[in-house]
Amino acid sequence: MRQDNTTMEKIVALSKRRGFIFQSSEIYGGIGGFWDYGPLGVELKRNVKDAWWRDMVTGHDVTSVLPGAPSSFDMVGLDTTIIMHPQVWKASGHLDLFYDMFVDCKTCKARFRADQVESSQCPRKPSRRPGEHADCDLTEPREFNTMFKTYVGALIDPEAEAYLRPETAQGTFTNFKNILSTSRVKVPFGIAQIGKSFRNEITPRNFIFRSREFEQMEMEFFCSPDSSQDWYTYWRDRRVAWYVSLGLKSEKLQLREHGPDERAHYSCGTADIEYAFPFLAQGEFGELEGVSHRGDFDLRSHMEGKLVREGDELVVETDEHGQPKYPGSGKDLSYFDDVTQSKYVPHVIEPAAGADRTTLAFLCEAYDEDAIPDEKGVPQERVVLRLHPRLAPVKAAVFPLVKKDGQPEFAAEIYRDLLTRWNVFYDEKGSIGKRYRRQDESGTPFCITVDHQSSEDQTVTLRDRDSTKQERVKASEIQSILEERLNS
Ligand code: GAP
Repeated sequence: MRQDNTTMEKIVALSKRRGFIFQSSEIYGGIGGFWDYGPLGVELKRNVKDAWWRDMVTGHDVTSVLPGAPSSFDMVGLDTTIIMHPQVWKASGHLDLFYDMFVDCKTCKARFRADQVESSQCPRKPSRRPGEHADCDLTEPREFNTMFKTYVGALIDPEAEAYLRPETAQGTFTNFKNILSTSRVKVPFGIAQIGKSFRNEITPRNFIFRSREFEQMEMEFFCSPDSSQDWYTYWRDRRVAWYVSLGLKSEKLQLREHGPDERAHYSCGTADIEYAFPFLAQGEFGELEGVSHRGDFDLRSHMEGKLVREGDELVVETDEHGQPKYPGSGKDLSYFDDVTQSKYVPHVIEPAAGADRTTLAFLCEAYDEDAIPDEKGVPQERVVLRLHPRLAPVKAAVFPLVKKDGQPEFAAEIYRDLLTRWNVFYDEKGSIGKRYRRQDESGTPFCITVDHQSSEDQTVTLRDRDSTKQERVKASEIQSILEERLNS
C-alpha cells in the first residue's frame, strides 16, 4: 500500500532533530519501550487528544440524531486512577488472561514473543532468525502476564500487591453507577477517557508503536442489547471517518473485521482500524484502534465475578468449593429503561485508540520531501510535515526579515496579538530561508514575515507551508485569515 519514500528511520530522525520524541533516559543509554515527548511532540500529541475529546465529548450534540446513528445519545468524560483495587483485575479476567506467550533462548538469554520469532533476529547472528543459529536453544512457549506489579503502602507483601492499569476501560466500568446517578445520562450514552496505560511488552518495537507506557483514548458506549449491533456498526464507521477528517488517506487505512477465532472470549464482534505504517511491508497494515462489541461482559464481571465462556454462555468461573473464583463487587450494575419499562445489563461498544500510535500515524502521513527554489531560484530539497492545521504543534511563526528598522517591534506586536488565540512562534535569528525550512519541518502551516514594506503600508507576507506561496495581506487582517484557514 505504501508507495512513498517515508521510512521509520526518517521519522525517528526528524522526531529527534526537531524535538518531537526522544528516548526516555537517553543520557543513561535509554530504557526499552519508554519515550519522552519534546516541545513539539507534546503539542502534537495534545492536539491529537484534544481533537478526539472534542469529537467525543465537548463537541457532542445531544439534541440531534447524528448521521448514521440509530438515535441521539449522551456523552460524558471521566478521568480515573492508574492504580485500582486489585479485585478489579481479578474480576475483569486480566490477572488470569492478560498475557503474551514468549520463548527464551537458553544460550544467549534473549527473550522473544512467541508470535514474533519468525520476524525477529538472532542476537548472535542477526541475518538469521532465533532458533536458526547452531547454538540457539529455544524454550517451549510460556505465558507472561504483561501487567506491571507494584505495592501500595509501606509493606511489600501479597496483601499490598497492585497493578498499573493495562487499559483505561476498567476505571470506566467501575464508575458506571456513579455516572448514572450523578450526570443525568440515560442509555444510550458513552463515557470517554484519555489516560496512561502500562504493559510490560516482551518486545517493544517500532518506535512509539508498541511501548510499555502509552496513552489510550477509550470510549465505553452503553446501549440496550437490542440496539447494540447497530451501534457497533455506527462506531466502527465513525471512527474511520475521524482519522480521514484529520488527514489520514483512506487508501492507507483499512477496517478489518476479526474472524471468530481471533476474537476475545467475550467479544460479539471486533474490528481493527489499521494503517499502512512505514515499518510494514508493502500491503501490510498495523492496528491503530480496536472497535469491540463487548456485550454485557464487563458490567456482569464487575457484578458477578470473573466470567468464562461455556458454549454460547458466559458463566461465573468457580473454585473447588463452587464459589466464584474471583468475585465481583456484588453491586447491581443493571439499568432500568423507563422508555421500554425493562431492566437489563447494558451492552458495551468500545472504540479503543492509542494516542501514541495515532500521533505516529499522523507524523508518518504528514512526512514529505520535495524541492523548492531558494532566494536565488536554485531548487533545494526540503522536508515538510504536512500536518492538518488542527494537529500542527505551532499554528504560525512570525518573523521580522531583518533585526532593524522597527521590524522586530512590528513583528512582536503581531506575535503578541496572535498569542492570545493560538500557539505561535517568534524568531528573528538566521536567514529567512532557514527559518522557513525549520517551520516546514515542524509542520507550522503559516509563516508571517514583516519586511521593509510593512512600515509603509502596514502589510506583511503570509507564506503557506504546503504550496510555499506568499501573499501580501494587511497586518490587521491576519487574525481573521488564520481563523478561517486553520479551521477549514
Ligand atoms: N480496552 C481495550 C484495549 O485496551 P487494545 O487493542 O489492547 O484494547 C487499544 O488497545 C489501543 O491501545 C490499541 O489499538 C493501540 O492503539 C493502543 N495500544 C495497545 N497497546 C499498546 C502499546 N504497547 N503501545 C502503544 N499503544 C498501544
